[in-house]
Parts: sequence; structure tokens; C-alpha cells
Amino acid sequence: MLSSILFPDRPLTVAVLGATGAVGEELVSLLEERNFPVGELRLLASKRSAGSLRVWRDKPIKVEEVNEAAFQGVDLVLASAGGSISRKWKEVILSAGALMIDNSSAFRMSADVPLVVPEVNPEAAANHKGVIANPNCTTILLTLALAPLARRFSMRRVLISTYQSASGAGARAMEELKVLSRDVLEDKKPISEVLPYSLAFNLFLHNSPLASNSYCEEEMKMVNETKKIMGLPDLLVSATCVRVPVLRAHSEAVNIEFDQVFDLEEARHLLKEAPGIEIIEDFESNRFPMPVDVTGRDLVAIGRIRKDISHPNALELWLCGDQIRKGAALNAVQIAELFLTRR
Ligand code: A2P
Repeated sequence: MLSSILFPDRPLTVAVLGATGAVGEELVSLLEERNFPVGELRLLASKRSAGSLRVWRDKPIKVEEVNEAAFQGVDLVLASAGGSISRKWKEVILSAGALMIDNSSAFRMSADVPLVVPEVNPEAAANHKGVIANPNCTTILLTLALAPLARRFSMRRVLISTYQSASGAGARAMEELKVLSRDVLEDKKPISEVLPYSLAFNLFLHNSPLASNSYCEEEMKMVNETKKIMGLPDLLVSATCVRVPVLRAHSEAVNIEFDQVFDLEEARHLLKEAPGIEIIEDFESNRFPMPVDVTGRDLVAIGRIRKDISHPNALELWLCGDQIRKGAALNAVQIAELFLTRR
């Protein structure tokens, strides 16, 4: 399917832009863990961390400040330094002939940029013009659950409440949660600098900018990106996004309405058989997915799959997924793997 645009069959030169961030560090370790065919790895970040060393395949690699020359001869750029940095370097990356897989929201809704979750819409990746966007973390986790159900039942409406960890705001926010939690335990007033409020023993509505419809940017990303990935422009989607004091795995309560009555056991079976999903569901002992179950792991855990008692055509489920892995870095590396000759 992707044969005309595969990577050359040789060790590749790969650059990670934002290599010192929470997602960047995970990208670097996933390239090693998944034995991605890397000949040369370039670690790019800002001036702040230029010169620092990272160990990769047992050898030290120096982090470089990003510059034009750093992209020369590169086959693949995995970008995770934020939207403005991705916008700034996109043309340089494309002129160098590299494929850019971008973790920021900069290009996700552009008509000529595929937005890809490999288990959901791998075929979309083939239509790229040099850039492929990695979706928003909560959206990736959500679409893994929606796709197997939407292939069987006509899906009408999806309502989501999220419980998002500190990792979604980057490595500094994770560190801040640890420090401020210690402050609270020591009866000190927690004063946040990275997040707008202290997350220690607290939670708050996602603080991304509000649109005129009173939804925040994160919620509108879920709405728009879900429709694009699923190829369902008329799907009705609404979300409320909340930041919670968890370090790195996101959770979501999801209500899915179909156009017709559905069979609950068939829905459960479809989810159980779907790639990337693990069912954690023990009704007898009341044990369902928790962030700690998925931290550092690849699978999205789903449980408490049940009929909505308020609507005959609706299903309720609960899911947890590691935001840094499947919600970001793993999905990006899996997109790159679609273009490998030998998989
Ligand atoms: P640095 O460590 O030099 O600040 P996170 O999302 O976890 O906060 O990570 C952000 C990543 O983006 C880090 O690797 C950070 O590098 C990188 N970054 C931030 N600003 C720039 C910039 N102006 N140019 C290149 N990389 C940047």
C-alpha cells in the first residue's frame, strides 16, 4: 500500500527535534527498544540543553542546538518541541528531503497533512506531502477504542470526560507535580510556575485557551481530530478535559451513542480483539483500568464496558493509556514504521 514511498532499505539518519523533552526522551528510547533501523541519530533541542549527553545504544550522543545544517542528509525527523518550533523548521526539513512526523498541533487539521493512528487509519499516511501529524494524546487513546466499534456499528455521538496527567504539559510539569506534592506534605504553600495552578492534591479544567463557544483548545482538538482520524465528519463529539495529579497516564470516561441498538457482548468482543487494546475488567472484584496499570506500557486499557442505562443505543466505557507512549512517542514511531521496507 505504501510501497511507492517507503524509506530506502538501509540504516536511516534520524533526527529527534525536542530530544530532551518528556516525549523526545521517550522517542529516543523507543527507537532503540523497537530496533528502528537507525544509522545515525541526531538529538536536537534548544541552546539550553545543547552539549549535554544522552546514552543511546550504549554510546553517548551530544545534544545539538537545532540549526539548518542539522537536517542535511536526514531521512526522518520526529518533532516534539512544540508548534512554533515545528512551524519554524518545517520548510528546512522538507527541503532536506526528510519525512517529518510532527507531534505538535501545528499542522494536524491541514487538509494536506494526514493525521494518523496506525491501528485506525494507516492508509491515510500514504497521502503525505512530507509531513504527517501525530494526533493529540487523548484523541489517540480515544480513537483506539472507537475504531473497532465504528467499523461494525454506525456511530452517532461521542461524549468524553478526560482525566489528564501532568506529562501532557511536558517534563517540567511532571517535575513540578513532584515538588509541589512534597510542599503540600510538608505544610508549605505550593506555588506553581509551569502549570497555571498547583496540581498537587488538586485538579483543574484544562487551561488551554478558550474559544468563543466556551470549549478550550484541548477539547476542540478532541472534537476535530477525532472526526478527521475516523473519517466521520458528521460524528457528534463533545469533551470536557481535566488535568489531574497523575504523572504520566491519561484516563477517559467515554459515552458512545450508535444509530441502532447494539449487542453489548459483541461490542466487548470487538474491543478485546482490537489491536493496541487490553481489557482490564473484573466486575466481581470491582477492578478496572488505572493509570498505574498502563504507565510505561504500550497498550490502552479499557474496562467497565456497559450499556448506558439512560439510552438504549449508547455504551459507556472507561480507558487509561500512557500519554507519553501510545499518546505521543509510540504512535509517532509506529507511523514511521509504516514506511519501513522490512517490518
Ligand atoms: P530544551 O531541553 O533545550 O529546552 P517538554 O514538552 O517536555 O517541555 O519538552 C520540550 C522540548 O522542546 C525540549 O527538548 C526542549 O529543549 C525543546 N525546545 C524548546 N524550545 C526549543 C527551541 N527554541 N528550539 C529547539 N528545541 C526547543
